Amino acid sequence: MDVSALGNDLSRVLYTPEEVQDRIAALAAQVDEDYAGKDVLLVGVLNGAVMIMADLSRALSIHCRMDWMAISSYGSGTKSSGVVRILKDLSTDIAGMHVLVVEDIVDTGLTLSYLISNLRSRNPASLEVLTAFRKPEALKMPVEVRYVGFDIPSEFVVGYGLDYDQRYRNLTGVATLAPHVYS
Ligand code: XMP
Ligand code: MG
Repeated sequence: MDVSALGNDLSRVLYTPEEVQDRIAALAAQVDEDYAGKDVLLVGVLNGAVMIMADLSRALSIHCRMDWMAISSYGSGTKSSGVVRILKDLSTDIAGMHVLVVEDIVDTGLTLSYLISNLRSRNPASLEVLTAFRKPEALKMPVEVRYVGFDIPSEFVVGYGLDYDQRYRNLTGVATLAPHVYS
């Protein structure tokens, strides 16, 4: 779905589909270089990372495996609940593996720091994070994100996997949501 299809539900287009795809190609090139000769497991965080996983993995020239986790940190609103629960765990034993966590967005970083300490306790050979989007708040967290698609302002954004109340994930671009939609 194109961002223009949504009329005044969206207040501002942040990135066009072309800009998103160009950035992902650049990230994939870095991942290719950094993981050359290594077996990498991409761990996608459901549901938002579905789009970036699909595009990133296909842009890679190296082999990769893929697995998924589902954790909950947000309700249907736009504020973090601070509660993190594992809804679906990995099917893979990651001990000794090179793990690259693939996220849609890092906002406060609460979700990610929980996820990282959880995965670290399983003794992977290496553990890094790639996120499509990152908000400024995340920089306050001690969690290091190795690959960042775009640093964006602290506004609620939708598209490219990001939802409001489970909708808008299928927008090919990324836009800010008009306040009248959620207030
Ligand atoms: P924290 O604050 O733990 O949150 O880093 C990460 C999760 O919060 C959701 N999130 C958003 N979802 N538009 C969205 O659709 C946004 O602007 C946004 N900011 C945070 C998202 O689920 C992410 O995984
Ligand atoms: Mg998420």
